[in-house]
Amino acid sequence: MTIDVARARRLTPGCELVLHLNNAGAALMPEPVLDVMHEQLDREATMGGYEAAEAVEGLLEGTYASIARLLGAQESEIAFAESATRAWDMAFHAVPLGAGDRILTTSAEYSSNAMSMGLVVERTGAEVVLLPDDEQGVVDLAALDAELDRGGVGLVAVTHVPTSNGSVTPVEEIGRRCRAAGVLFLLDACQSVGQRRVDVDEIGCDLLAATGRKFLRGPRGTGFLYVRSEVVDRLHPPFLDLRAATWTGPFTYEFHPDARRFEQWERSVAGHLGLGAAVDHLLEWGIDAIQERVTSLATHLRTALEGIPGATVRDRGPVRSGIVTFTLDGHPAEEIADHLSKVQVNVWVSPGEDSHLDLLPRGLTTGVVRASVHYYNTVDELDRAVGLVAALT
Ligand SMILES: Cc1ncc(COP(=O)(O)O)c(C=O)c1O
Repeated sequence: MTIDVARARRLTPGCELVLHLNNAGAALMPEPVLDVMHEQLDREATMGGYEAAEAVEGLLEGTYASIARLLGAQESEIAFAESATRAWDMAFHAVPLGAGDRILTTSAEYSSNAMSMGLVVERTGAEVVLLPDDEQGVVDLAALDAELDRGGVGLVAVTHVPTSNGSVTPVEEIGRRCRAAGVLFLLDACQSVGQRRVDVDEIGCDLLAATGRKFLRGPRGTGFLYVRSEVVDRLHPPFLDLRAATWTGPFTYEFHPDARRFEQWERSVAGHLGLGAAVDHLLEWGIDAIQERVTSLATHLRTALEGIPGATVRDRGPVRSGIVTFTLDGHPAEEIADHLSKVQVNVWVSPGEDSHLDLLPRGLTTGVVRASVHYYNTVDELDRAVGLVAALT
């Protein structure tokens, strides 16, 4: 199936106003998402917030079912969260790690996750091992094998699609190895969900964190955690509230039996519904069609950028995502982003100075421009953006 791009654009009011190549930041929301959120805000204003939530209980449950369908998971394995970082943290800080346990990660890891690893190392005496990249710029699987063979690995935590580089981590290869070694596998799928096929059984991850606002096209302030049912009882959430546990005595509790032990009671109900609508919208298009279109648009963009004298595409790895990163000799990334934003072309800058695992080691200290495509973008839009970049030279 191919995407009806004209229809996708008609359903996306923002397409008339901006040329949006910041889908890795937050994609443009489609009408079904906007409608369900507006309706809920109206209900809250006219009925009262709690009453409005009760009125849509069934729809709220539907969001879990939709996310489960998207990931090939069970509804009971999904927890709502307000961001990918919070979802990831709830899982990461729940993993029982002690002195000497090793956490394996890669150069694709997200900044907040890497800092949390540092925090846990300080608190527990666990160790973080940064696996080297292979010659193509993604994790060296032989190094992963060697570390798993050494034993003592408490967790493998990797990011599927990094934030500042168009590479794709070979997560199925990693999952297969983790399963064989009986090691927990936590996947940050924040940038991959919504643009690529992400199936928890195909990947073999135990835990997965993602956000709503990026390639899923959901609202800000939403995200989710997947927790494989077989591992849930080994994980003790770092925080509890009355949604996550039952109050059994003055100072005692019992965890919620499933993934909802990682949730909190309060949330944006409109956001929760918007997230469900975004996932349903994606499922209607079909993830395979989306992935095919995103890949083809990103390939077109890379090729066109490479035609500009002085421009260098900075993406790595044999498999590439919809995130396209580049530099232009003599023109800092900020200058390019500012130049484009003056004519309503949205890109983003991934700064280099604190990208300790990815850009800094590659010497990209002044950062890269990040242009991230989605299925509603067109080749004409990409050519226009590339023309504007070329005009700077
Ligand atoms: C790879 C990756 N992981 C995690 C995050 C954090 O997502 P959130 O802002 O929803 O916490 C981001 C945000 O850009 C990201 O790119």
